[in-house]
Amino acid sequence: MRSLFFAGLLSCGSLVAATAISGGTHRRADHVSPRPHIVYSPKSPSTAPADPKPRCKTCFVETHGDGVTDDSEYILKAFNECNNGGHVVFREGETYIVGTAMDWTFLKSIDIDIQGEILFSNDTAYWQANSFPFVFQNVTSFFKLGGDDVFIYGGGTLNGNGQVWYDAYAADIYTLRPVLIGIDGLKNSIISDLVLRYSPQYYHFIANSSNVVFNNIDIAGGSTNPKVTAKNTDGWDTYRSDGITIQNSVINNGDDCVSFKPNSTNVLVQSLFCNGSHGVSVGSLGQYVGHYDIVENVYVANISMHNATDGARIKIWPNTPSALSGDLQGGGGDGRVNNITYTDWIIDNVDYAIEVDQCYGQKNLTLCLEYPSPLKITNVLFNNFKGTASNKYQPQVANFACSSETACSNILSTNFDVVSPNNTNEAYCLNFEQSALDGVTCTTVFKGFN
Ligand SMILES: *[C@@H]1O[C@H](CO)[C@@H](O)[C@H](O)[C@H]1NC(C)=O
Ligand SMILES: *[C@@H]1O[C@H](CO)[C@@H](O)[C@H](O)[C@H]1NC(C)=O
Ligand SMILES: *[C@@H]1O[C@H](CO)[C@@H](O)[C@H](O)[C@H]1NC(C)=O
Ligand SMILES: *[C@@H]1O[C@H](CO)[C@@H](O)[C@H](O)[C@H]1NC(C)=O
Ligand SMILES: *[C@@H]1O[C@H](CO)[C@@H](O)[C@H](O)[C@H]1NC(C)=O
Ligand SMILES: *[C@@H]1O[C@H](CO)[C@@H](O)[C@H](O)[C@H]1NC(C)=O
Ligand SMILES: *[C@@H]1O[C@H](CO)[C@@H](O)[C@H](O)[C@H]1NC(C)=O
Ligand SMILES: *[C@@H]1O[C@H](CO)[C@@H](O)[C@H](O)[C@H]1NC(C)=O
Ligand SMILES: *[C@@H]1O[C@H](CO)[C@@H](O)[C@H](O)[C@H]1NC(C)=O
Ligand SMILES: *[C@@H]1O[C@H](CO)[C@@H](O)[C@H](O)[C@H]1NC(C)=O
Repeated sequence: MRSLFFAGLLSCGSLVAATAISGGTHRRADHVSPRPHIVYSPKSPSTAPADPKPRCKTCFVETHGDGVTDDSEYILKAFNECNNGGHVVFREGETYIVGTAMDWTFLKSIDIDIQGEILFSNDTAYWQANSFPFVFQNVTSFFKLGGDDVFIYGGGTLNGNGQVWYDAYAADIYTLRPVLIGIDGLKNSIISDLVLRYSPQYYHFIANSSNVVFNNIDIAGGSTNPKVTAKNTDGWDTYRSDGITIQNSVINNGDDCVSFKPNSTNVLVQSLFCNGSHGVSVGSLGQYVGHYDIVENVYVANISMHNATDGARIKIWPNTPSALSGDLQGGGGDGRVNNITYTDWIIDNVDYAIEVDQCYGQKNLTLCLEYPSPLKITNVLFNNFKGTASNKYQPQVANFACSSETACSNILSTNFDVVSPNNTNEAYCLNFEQSALDGVTCTTVFKGFN
């Protein structure tokens, strides 16, 4: 039996013995990580999770340790034993194999200390049949995380084993690729100090959640097969959620760095380094007929955006059926985008530093303008963008396209100082007033949407 771990017991008020999970041998390396201290900068969220109470029990997660056998039963055992006031440790130096879809929405007052690596199995047939469906855009996930007062950290890695999925998607776009971290109904929680690698699809999908902070997350991964690209590897997507903060992170991916899907409110995104992405996006919204999508009170500050198609972006489907691809279609939905601030950005090799697109998924601009979007965009500020765009749309560096004169109001660009490689600052402007767009020179030459 391993020695008991008593760290933090004095502050718990009463003496509660640590759990010794049988099986395995004692490892001298067993230790619990100190909790990270979260610093909010440059802005503080209007509400942030309170400092969780100390946990009074420690559960080390066992592993078969052979790199193949599913360790899910050990993970569930530790989560159950240490739920309601404990600290679960995934040991440093170990690889935990996950080959079973697990529902983790029961978590309450728990620290999850991931020091080692959690590797998801490559059984694409199993996962397609068993991963958790989310209701938006065919999203599914390896596990479903939810609950209250959950603090995850430890510096370890979640590895989605993405290559089999990138290959499978290249062969069949109807392959349902799980997102690495699927969240449904998480409250008052912090996820910090994690390394995320090779997600099959998005890295995070956050649904039905409130008052959750993501801090110091290191995201990277891509296809090692030069014939295949890793598609739809968004950093974070928020959905039906309020009070989410995403900060102090490095994202190397190939789709949205962060995107705000329907009903994302009071979101703070700050101090990110994004490389290779599609920018920080509102949307896409208005995809589904009969739905009313809201994105409101969003603040995105201190972002450095490199090698990207877009910097700050708003993408809205038109009011007519449109198809981006066989597996992504939509148009005709209603809603509103209101009170969005994008401020203090560095732009480096980005196709459009800013793109407002109310014709998302519709290449035929004439058709889009015949069916202007009922989804209104109001009170948007793009402030203090500096740097150099790519040469893709040169001489243009931005694109402001509203589907009608009334679909957009009070959208301003101030202190915009981004130029193309040959030092021009043109922007395509459709239903936009030049006077509202400081730092760009509006033209009517349309060079395309991303
Ligand atoms: C899937 O993983 C197993 C076990 O790690 C390995 O033996 C097999 O080669 C992998 N298959 C593919 C297609 O990568
Ligand atoms: C979110 O909550 C709603 C309402 O309870 C539920 O119908 C839905 O399945 C939940 N999950 C997602 C991903 O929306
Ligand atoms: C996903 O959703 C689209 C609609 O956008 C649908 O046509 C498609 O069949 C769905 N399923 C898969 C596996 O992509
Ligand atoms: C978003 O919120 C609006 C207003 O409350 C509601 O009508 C709509 O159904 C919500 N959409 C989703 C996807 O939850
Ligand atoms: C801005 O973000 C960078 C990382 O990209 C970070 O080093 C810096 O401290 C942040 N600035 C503020 C004021 O938070
Ligand atoms: C940015 O992405 C490019 C292309 O994938 C890569 O070569 C480069 O190393 C990345 N930069 C950083 C700092 O990771
Ligand atoms: C706009 O959003 C910000 C958060 O970015 C919030 O502080 C502010 O109160 C909102 N303004 C209004 C009028 O709601
Ligand atoms: C952008 O991409 C180029 C080429 O892939 C790479 O050399 C460069 O380091 C990237 N920029 C950053 C800031 O990572
Ligand atoms: C674009 O839409 C317009 C209006 O519906 C139509 O007349 C035109 O033929 C379309 N163009 C193409 C290339 O499909
Ligand atoms: C900048 O480059 C574009 C093509 O890449 C060209 O059309 C434009 O005339 C150039 N402008 C200047 C000022 O050199």
